[in-house]
Amino acid sequence: MKKMMIFPAALLAVLSALPLAARAADVVKGQALVEKYNCASCHGKDYNSPIDPSYPKLAGQHADYLKHALTAYRRGDTAMNGRTNAIMSAQAKPLTDRDINDIAAYLHSLPGSLVLRK
Ligand code: HEC
Repeated sequence: MKKMMIFPAALLAVLSALPLAARAADVVKGQALVEKYNCASCHGKDYNSPIDPSYPKLAGQHADYLKHALTAYRRGDTAMNGRTNAIMSAQAKPLTDRDINDIAAYLHSLPGSLVLRK
């Protein structure tokens, strides 16, 4: 009897957690976010022609790398695997994990000139 009571509750907990875990990155939302934060003002309107050669190109970059980089700026370099940069630390601060996921998916979807080898 006890087992039968626990099972539905556990199942319900698992099912209600599923939509969050399974939510795919949203490219459209990612585009809206980069427009909202005006990331193009430095990284270039197509994210492939930054305003300064020392600023990285983002178009077509691997989504997992972009996620890692943005999370690292947000974390700061006092934490393990953190990054610090006067500009990007401030840019990454307001972003949630979900924002970063969506932004990374959008930037990855753009055509870019990044190459592994020339
Ligand atoms: C004021 C200029 C500026 C703005 C605005 C800006 N960035 Fe950056 N971004 C930079 C610079 C400069 C770097 C390189 C920093 C470094 O050397 O660590 C950088 C680095 C990055 C990187 C790491 C790329 C790599 O190859 O390691 C990502 C990802 C990134 N920016 C995403 C964004 C996103 C997303 C936004 C908008 C929310 C944004 N940036 C807004 C200037 C900017």
